Order: sequence, then C-alpha cells, then structure tokens
Amino acid sequence: MKIEKKLIDPAQVRRQEELCLEAAALLRERTERPLALVDTYGCQQNEADSEKLRGFLAEMGCAFTEDEFAADIIVVNTCAVREHAEMRVLGNVGALNHTKKAKPSQIIALCGCMVQQPHMAQKVKASYPVVDLVFGPHELWRFPELLLRVLTGHKRVFATEQSDGVLAEGLPSVRDGKVKAWLSIMYGCNNFCSYCVVPYVRGRERSRRPEDVVREAEALVAAGYKDITLLGQNVNSYGKDLDCGVNFAQLIRRINDIPGDFLIRFMTSHPKDATEELFQTMAACEKCAHQLHLPVQAGNDRILKVMNRNYTAAQYLEKVALARRYMPDLVLTTDIIVGFPGETEEEFEDTIRLCEAVRYDAMFTFIYSKRVGTPAASMPDPYTRADKQRHFDRLTEVSNRISAEKHREYEGRTLRVLVDGETGRTPYNLSSRTNGGRLVHLQGEPALIGQFVRVKITGGNTWALYGEAL
Ligand code: 5AD
Ligand code: SF4
Repeated sequence: MKIEKKLIDPAQVRRQEELCLEAAALLRERTERPLALVDTYGCQQNEADSEKLRGFLAEMGCAFTEDEFAADIIVVNTCAVREHAEMRVLGNVGALNHTKKAKPSQIIALCGCMVQQPHMAQKVKASYPVVDLVFGPHELWRFPELLLRVLTGHKRVFATEQSDGVLAEGLPSVRDGKVKAWLSIMYGCNNFCSYCVVPYVRGRERSRRPEDVVREAEALVAAGYKDITLLGQNVNSYGKDLDCGVNFAQLIRRINDIPGDFLIRFMTSHPKDATEELFQTMAACEKCAHQLHLPVQAGNDRILKVMNRNYTAAQYLEKVALARRYMPDLVLTTDIIVGFPGETEEEFEDTIRLCEAVRYDAMFTFIYSKRVGTPAASMPDPYTRADKQRHFDRLTEVSNRISAEKHREYEGRTLRVLVDGETGRTPYNLSSRTNGGRLVHLQGEPALIGQFVRVKITGGNTWALYGEAL
C-alpha cells in the first residue's frame, strides 16, 4: 500500500473541523454547556485514539464529565483483543439503558476494535438499540461527520466498512496529562499471529511520515511533556511502507535530537524484527529509556510456530542477551499467553523455564481467548479452562516472585526518576517512574510533578519501589 493512497486529504480533515462547529451549534440548542464522557478500554493505542475523540468533542464545545447520567454524549472506545474486554463493554453498554431513560436526548456511540468485527457490529445493531452511533478505527478521523448525521437524522448510524486502514494528520487532541504523552507513529499490523484479531480490525501497517512524527514530538516537548511513548502495534516495522528510508532506529535518533530534557519510550516491539541497530540506538541516545517491552507469548518452539511468531525460544533468548549487552541496566517486560489451543503441560513448562532464564522485570500474562475469524479459533483445544487457570496461576506466581526479587535489588540505589502524579495515599503521596519505567512511590510536594528528581530507593515489592527524594 502506497502512502498517498491511505493518506486522508488534508482538506477533508479541515472539513471535519467545520463540521465540529455545526455540531456545536446543534448541541447548544439542546443544552447550554454540553457534557461528554469518553470511556476507554484496551491498549495505549486506544488511549491515544480517545484523546483525539476528546479533541473533536472539545471543538464541538463539550466539557468533560465522568458522570454517565450527566453526559449528553457518551463515547465508548472498545477493545477486541480478549473476550473479557468485550463482555465488560457489553455489560456497561447494557447499563446505559438507565442513563438514556433518565435523559432521552443522550447520544451513545461505540467505536474502536470490538465494533469493527462484523459479528459484533451486527450484535449491537440487533440487541443494543440504546446505541446511536457505531464506527470502527478507520472512521475515527470523521467522527464529527458521523455524529452530525445522528444529530440531524434521528436514526442510528453504522460505519464499520472493512478497510486496510487510513492515515489522517492534523486531528485535534485533548491529552490526558501534562507529563506523559502518547505519540502514535504507525497504525495496523501485518503479522497475523494466529490468535490475534488486531490485523483484522486495525488493518495493514502504515507509518506516519517522519517529519509529521518529529513535528508532533517537538510540540510535545515545547508544551512541557517529559515522557513521550511512541506507539505502534509493532514499532520495529516503522518506515517499511515509506519510501524515505527512515527506519525505527533512525526515527528515535531524530526525536533524540530535539533539544530539551525528556524521555523517549516505545511499544510494542516484535522480537522477530528487534535489531542490533535498535539496541545500539537505544544505548547511544541519551533520551531513550532503557526499557523494552518484548512480548514472547510462549517459551515452546512448537507453540511459537503455530502462533506464527517467526522466532524460536533460542532466537528470542539471543535477542535478549544482545539487548542486555548494549544496555546492562535494561528493564525488560513481556506478554505471555497461556492455554493456547493444544498447549501441553510440558510445553507450558518451557514457558516457565524461559521466564526463569530471562527474569523479566514485569510480565503481562493472559489466558488464551478465542477470537472469531483467527486461525487459532479453529485449532483443536482439548484442555479445560481449569487446566489453563492452573497454568496461569503458576505463571503469575513465578512472575510476581521475580518482579519482587528484581525490585528488592534496587534497595539502597540512587536513581533519577520523573515525578508524574499523586497517589492519593499517605505517606507515599507521589508516583514517579525510573528511566526503565518502574513505578516509584515517594513522599514530597506536589510541585515536584513534572520534574526529574534523584531518589534513594528504600524498599520494593512485586508492584512498586519506594524511595526518598534527595
Ligand atoms: N487471547 C489472549 N491474549 C491475547 N493477546 C492477543 N490476542 C490474544 C488472545 N486471543 C495478548 C498478547 C498480546 C497482548 C496485547 O494481548 O499477549 O501481546
Ligand atoms: Fe497481534 Fe501479533 Fe500484531 Fe501483536 S504482532 S498486534 S500479537 S498480530
């Protein structure tokens, strides 16, 4: 797919801004100060998308609320990665019958990955009449147009056409914080891991042009953001679809060259294309955090093969060793799926062995969830839910123990952390992050939020470190 083909014409994007003004006028006829609620499920990409939805809603004159009964517009940005997330969305949308009964003018929109699946769009159409507007990830850039259709047409709007995906530059955004920012550098995924629905709902990989990414990063730095996370389903593929010869490592260098005191993080990296050049670049760029989220998914070669992951456990371990050679202080995290169809006791033990060998700082563990339309959904799956739960619990125990051990190794060390918010608890009232992204609770003045400070680590458990600001 050529970039020109997928790029939305800037005139069309500007048109959406005009439509925001039209929507604002209609909303003002209904209420003096319209209130909007955006509820987000799933990954950081969805968080970033929700910031754009809020950007549009702000241009429509909306203020924001967390109160479902007060909201004039509710947008639920959904996730399709596991069944659990879908059940939560559907449960909460069911509950919106009450809010809409109390406020019949309320507009309810569902967007994101879950509703991009045809069977889910159909289910919402048939069984959730409370929903007025449904649109998939490829339609987000024209949310104002779709909402306007609801405001003027008095009928339900569905926009969930299949698509390889688009790229839209210049959408407005209302960001969630003042210290940490998400920066999407690419969209979609070409990997088709056999269990995963993402390539079906988010389309093919498309990279933003480096100059657009760098411009956005410069604006974030100028606005005072100190912690910028570059987002993509597989950031190591960045640039492969562009013809300007800039790969992910080179993009990091360009962002590292922006003057200012800030950190660059990124996620997610696919092990098959995590290169030596990337590790070298991370080590050489002083603003790039020594943090790598490198999902392994499983530790057994047969399972990795049927997952279509394109690496073996040994190749993965070599990558980890190489990364650690460049960055001995690297903080390494991963995702693991237990209970993939047909995974045996012995195959699961390989995953445990791999985790014991790598010693991750933190692991995100999931029980396999069958996704409609993926190859894994039709693989024989003879093991029971109880078997999978037993494996999951065992892996969680291993993961928690290793995290606690690694966190205790920090005790007595002095580190630079970025203070990013309040915990709402005493005595450790502030939260902060190390360069590697580990959470550190501190005591101190809220005025420290947004600053890099030096701390002495006094303790740690599975989930966090504790420290004293120096
Ligand atoms: N079931 C369970 N976990 C899944 N993931 C992706 N698809 C599934 C699925 N069908 C996990 C993977 C991925 C993370 C974002 O979600 O571990 O890395
Ligand atoms: Fe899903 Fe694999 Fe793509 Fe990640 S790399 S989004 S797990 S298909």
